[in-house]
Amino acid sequence: MGCAQRHADRGGCRGGCGELSRNVRIRPYRAGDLEAVTALWHTCGLVVPYNDPKQDIAFCRESAHGEVFVGEDKQGRVIATAMAGHDGHRGWLYYVAVAPRLRKDGLGRLIVHHAEAWLKGLGVRKVQLLVRPTNLAAATFYERLGYERSPVAVLQRWLTPPKA
Ligand SMILES: CC(C)(COP(=O)(O)OP(=O)(O)OC[C@H]1O[C@@H](n2cnc3c(N)ncnc32)[C@H](O)[C@@H]1OP(=O)(O)O)[C@@H](O)C(=O)NCCC(=O)NCCS
Repeated sequence: MGCAQRHADRGGCRGGCGELSRNVRIRPYRAGDLEAVTALWHTCGLVVPYNDPKQDIAFCRESAHGEVFVGEDKQGRVIATAMAGHDGHRGWLYYVAVAPRLRKDGLGRLIVHHAEAWLKGLGVRKVQLLVRPTNLAAATFYERLGYERSPVAVLQRWLTPPKA
């Protein structure tokens, strides 16, 4: 059975047959996306008490080196996201998310590749990301995309501690 047939119930193929990119548009975040994007992040378990998604989006977009990419379907529904940016040295990815009903069909790969291409266009040579130790599935996903585990310890300190 071909991809288009397999995915007919979803309004078209989202697999690796080339139709995925025709059914999904990836664009920069725009005003009006907040509700749909934060709803997706909540659904995907990406919202933690010490991060405010609204602030995270605003802070990223205020930066000249950051962007939130949004994948939308033909109906304009937000179905994927990736936040990308660089700190003057390395590129970073955050908030990579795909709507649960559309997973394992290449959409995560598509939006990560889009973010990587954007970073590369800014001169970034290496991209990194953080995966919580409980999120083994995400680590496997990134490994499938060619990411390698890095033998480094990440140390951190709050400059403005989160409110209790
Ligand atoms: C992780 C996530 C973005 C993957 O999105 P996706 O659209 O399902 O990913 P893709 O279909 O593009 O998968 C790419 C590859 O990763 C593999 N993969 C994806 N999810 C996987 C999982 N849960 N376990 C094992 N492998 C997985 C796919 O099988 C595919 O492998 P292939 O190279 O054989 O084709 C999605 O599951 C998600 O939104 N998870 C919740 C949010 C999250 O944890 N984000 C990461 C934060 S660090």
